[in-house]
Amino acid sequence: MRPAEGGYGHRSGWRTMTRDVVLERAQRVLDANWTGTYTVPASGLYPHQWSWDSAFIAIGTRHTRPDRARAEILSLVPAQWDDGRIPQIIYNPTRDEEYAPGNSFWRSQSIPGSGVRPSAGFVQPPNHAWAAWLVHSADPEGSASEGFLEAIYPVLVRWHDYLAGPRASSRNPTLSVIKHPWEGTDNSPLWDDALSRVPVESGTEIRRPDLLHAGHGERPDTNEYRKYYWLAERYRANQCRDDEPFAFEMVCPLFNALQAVSELALARIADALGASSQAHRDRAAVISTALDSDLWDDELGIYVARDDVSGSLVRKATANGLAPLLIPDAGHGPELVATLLGPRFLGGGKFVPSYDRTAADFDPALYWRGPAWFNLNWMIMRAMQGIGNVEAADRLTPLFSEVSAQGDFPEYVDPTSGEPRGTRNFSWTAALTIDALTVTHLPPLSDTTNAPAPIGSYEH
Ligand code: SER
Repeated sequence: MRPAEGGYGHRSGWRTMTRDVVLERAQRVLDANWTGTYTVPASGLYPHQWSWDSAFIAIGTRHTRPDRARAEILSLVPAQWDDGRIPQIIYNPTRDEEYAPGNSFWRSQSIPGSGVRPSAGFVQPPNHAWAAWLVHSADPEGSASEGFLEAIYPVLVRWHDYLAGPRASSRNPTLSVIKHPWEGTDNSPLWDDALSRVPVESGTEIRRPDLLHAGHGERPDTNEYRKYYWLAERYRANQCRDDEPFAFEMVCPLFNALQAVSELALARIADALGASSQAHRDRAAVISTALDSDLWDDELGIYVARDDVSGSLVRKATANGLAPLLIPDAGHGPELVATLLGPRFLGGGKFVPSYDRTAADFDPALYWRGPAWFNLNWMIMRAMQGIGNVEAADRLTPLFSEVSAQGDFPEYVDPTSGEPRGTRNFSWTAALTIDALTVTHLPPLSDTTNAPAPIGSYEH
């Protein structure tokens, strides 16, 4: 990969690090955050296990510690609830004081059907099957000898059945809903209108240990937290069941795009196990069609969100709405690439911001309201490589070859300057850096032959 021109390192005069040094430093972050069974996202800000973090982390560690990558994914199994959900946060009760809301808020083990490991009741975007397939593909022999796919496939099928069942949108059951901003991109402007119906009050004392670990103006504010808690209290009060209409039900293009991609990965896993795979391909296809029919905004040239309570579309351009680029042959691909390259995203600065740069309330430092996140930039880079748009993909590679290590693997960065924001030594940043610097592309999930070319000579 080429070093960034005028990137963060250049501006601050730091020496460009060699690829081997970047890889070594990334691995050191992951080793420090590894607990022996899973990896914490960041030891201060996020001291427990987060489910979509673990999946992104395994996508990186598959290249360097494939056995650990498998263990990371398998550690989610005892957290699964009887209804199939894989929870958002799986708690280490000995660190309950360090993060809020903790295990003492959810008390999941008093909820019938919760998992063996204590957890939150919410979920996160379903990138797990995709990660499991990538983990398997990096070390098929080790995976086979451990029976990895046999162990994880039924768990992932039940997880997707939960999404397609209890979490199905009431307006189009092909798509699934999120029940809380914490189920992905917390303070995204996509949720503002729905949150305006939520009172700024809660029955829980709001503790903010998170503020100790990020800069001023880089986290959601306490009034937003009051709303988050109000919703979480109500979900908890109904034992986290999904059988009644809820105050917050949003159809998110990122969540559903990952569900479609993961269905394609489940099809590959089923093929590898000699099981029937067609139902997974069919589900991916219907999700993709529903994204086009329900969430495409022709004027903005992007997928938007739908408020399932009011039925209205949230007509805002966010990186969530670019995620369907990952679905092979998704409708509107060319228009979506044009939007990616236009002024709202890459046309206006180096990296893909989480929110439209041209919006009046765009904020380059504030969590999901503007900063560039490594997971979304990695997904978009992989999607551009997948369709052979080398130029667009190359715009993003400096984020991994330079900016991540020079910023001490930050949680997110200013999407124009690359300056680090949020916490540091963030696991998925380190993991996706390893992946980006180790293989040139991800073989398309629809292709059964094409193996990725390694970059350089990185040794396992
Ligand atoms: N992202 C949330 C937080 O900041 C929870 O998943 O704590």
